[in-house]
Amino acid sequence: MQDRYISIEGISRAYPAPGGGVTTIFDDLWLGVARGEFVAVIGHSGCGKTTVLNILAGLDVPSSGVVVVDGKAIEGPSLDRAVIFQSHALLPWKSALGNVAYAVASRWPKWSRGEVSAKAMAAIRLVGLEHAAERRPAELSGGMKQRVGIARALSIDPKILLMDEPFSALDALTRGTLQDEVRNICVETGQTVFMITHDVDEAIYLADKIVLMTNGPGARIAEIVVNPLPDGRTRNDVHRHPAYYPLRNHIIDFLVTRSKSFDGELAAGRPWDARNPPLVNPVAPERAPLAPVPVPAGPSGEAVEAGPVLTQAQRRRTT
Ligand SMILES: Nc1ncnc2c1ncn2[C@@H]1O[C@H](COP(=O)(O)OP(=O)(O)O)[C@@H](O)[C@H]1O
Ligand SMILES: [Mg+2]
Repeated sequence: MQDRYISIEGISRAYPAPGGGVTTIFDDLWLGVARGEFVAVIGHSGCGKTTVLNILAGLDVPSSGVVVVDGKAIEGPSLDRAVIFQSHALLPWKSALGNVAYAVASRWPKWSRGEVSAKAMAAIRLVGLEHAAERRPAELSGGMKQRVGIARALSIDPKILLMDEPFSALDALTRGTLQDEVRNICVETGQTVFMITHDVDEAIYLADKIVLMTNGPGARIAEIVVNPLPDGRTRNDVHRHPAYYPLRNHIIDFLVTRSKSFDGELAAGRPWDARNPPLVNPVAPERAPLAPVPVPAGPSGEAVEAGPVLTQAQRRRTT
């Protein structure tokens, strides 16, 4: 049975519309994320990606539906779930180490200063910032500030790591380096990650699965692309893999045309179930969708389905 460590169950979000009535930004989203899985969400601006992430963070609530993490419905923010924002959101009066230590002390309030400091320093070391541990945010470059944000998120040993376009404000070189570091850390620690990006190559490099959202209002999860690239991929060799272009073209084609036309595809009779978005392998499209397997019951008690895909961490654990 597939592990649904994060289980998004039929969520929608509606806002009052300017002329009266409501606008439903996204509708009836279902998604399971296994423990140790790295999931990236791609969709056009305004389809509700940040809203979904905020719901996962407990900073927003869905208009309908629930999200369950590790068997418990989300009810507000929790130190089990760490967020890395696009802007680092550091406390300006604290040093890099101080910012991380602040998070560690909130997570483990009974710890001694020494324990807090050691844990914070370990996270600072993880992102290669030991030389700048005592500097304040104003004395750090954009990339270093984002590194502190990553260290702070990882320092609290979160059950899930939520990232909203975490590298989009960085220059290309720094972005690449940080992508490498985040990938290495997540692979080594088996971290469960939910990331939003609009960068197709970033999703291909980092994610086990790439969730494709249609345009809002009424945005949907059209399909879930299973990344066929090998676990040992590096940023500099992904484009040499024979699966790279079919994968990339499939995602770009979705963004350019199908994200708009998907409702038309459904109207034309395309089989599709919101509760069980198809798992697609773009390298062997004739095999898509992959065979579903039963997963735990949804909130209304019916069985829901999801694909039999092992995460990188699971594959590593089994080999
Ligand atoms: N408080 C709000 N009131 C009304 N509309 C909102 C509010 N917050 C977000 N929205 C709308 O919800 C839509 C989705 O926003 P967002 O989740 O930020 O999308 P994305 O991250 O995919 O660009 C946008 O059209 C935005 O205008
Ligand atoms: Mg956004």
